[in-house]
Amino acid sequence: MDRLEALDEAVALIGEEGIAAARAPIEEASGLPNAAYNSQDWLSLERDRVFSRTWIFVAAEAEFESVGAQKPVEVAGAPVLLVRAAAGINAFHNVCRHRGAQLVDAPCEKATVTCPYHQWTYGLDGDLRSRPHFGGPGINSRFNGDAGPNLDLLPVRCETWNGCVFVNLNGSAEPLDQWIAQFVEIAGEYDLTTVRWAGKIDFEVNANWKFVFENYMEGYHVFSLHPALLKHAPMNTRWSGEWVDSVFHNGYIAPRLTAGRGDELPHYPGLTDEQTRAGRWFLVFPTFGVEIFADQFCVLTANPIAPGCTREEIHIFLIGDEAATGDRYLKARESMFAMWDALNREDLDALERLQRGRRSPAYDGGRLSPYWEVPTHQLGAHVIDAILR
Ligand code: FES
Ligand SMILES: [Fe+2]
Repeated sequence: MDRLEALDEAVALIGEEGIAAARAPIEEASGLPNAAYNSQDWLSLERDRVFSRTWIFVAAEAEFESVGAQKPVEVAGAPVLLVRAAAGINAFHNVCRHRGAQLVDAPCEKATVTCPYHQWTYGLDGDLRSRPHFGGPGINSRFNGDAGPNLDLLPVRCETWNGCVFVNLNGSAEPLDQWIAQFVEIAGEYDLTTVRWAGKIDFEVNANWKFVFENYMEGYHVFSLHPALLKHAPMNTRWSGEWVDSVFHNGYIAPRLTAGRGDELPHYPGLTDEQTRAGRWFLVFPTFGVEIFADQFCVLTANPIAPGCTREEIHIFLIGDEAATGDRYLKARESMFAMWDALNREDLDALERLQRGRRSPAYDGGRLSPYWEVPTHQLGAHVIDAILR
């Protein structure tokens, strides 16, 4: 789909008014129309024009400890397979070159990728190795790197940054280093090379992916939904945050450290007292969310699997090997994981309400707070701009 076709499709789905409202100043603005949250066609447009053309966080490198570790993921609606080979992590379209069966459907560790249907077997480099009985009973074809591009697995562009694995489905995105550079600069006071993966938690949310991030960005709802977080950082420490190009950032200086936020685990080196009490969060458009406290680097990602259903993952990275995996910090790690799990669950009901509310034809995108919701509203403009780019 080219730019003009994308424009026609966007206008057909949300109208010229919907596009204008997303780009209007906050006083006149409303959110994106209902179709942007509940139409399958709109999600297809986002997949084609947004998610497949940029970098999508898909895993932590530490999930692939040994050669042969494999993990199926979904990117822009397409099945993708991540595989650890001797030289690093490879990504392939997760589909067999024979009849198109999905190859791997759960994380596993194997020396080859073997299709469960007729046992075509590929190496970890994606090369087809063998096709049992292909030429007739007992006649196996075997290959040694010479099967060719019609038979080998189809590669997907894959790069890693600081322990995070990213995929760009259509291969046209700017280099990953360039894409991430603005975020790295804004988070400049933290030595991000010190972070180590400690694990992840997953959620399935019955809400559109944009609701997840709109809610993530604004501190407006904290007084209402998050009692413990409110104690940590009261409303008067908060602001709306802002976008710098395609990176959103927000933050506060908390009066003191509390459970799960800087009170027990090791800190980034060289932070001042004020930086130690800071809570900062970011969204590198479209789906790479990062939360930073003195003792952690958490990736929050939301992958749409349907207009009203999103798979959310929170990957928790801590400062140094001992914090991430050592026995000494086991209890502190458990309480941090529990904090994240509880905090995220406090949002679920509101997110699912937003999705149900969008079934009402009476809702027109609403009125937004000029104090709190300018960046939230601008997420819609970023989506429209990416679709029309
Ligand atoms: S579909 Fe994979 S071997 Fe037949
Ligand atoms: Fe929240």
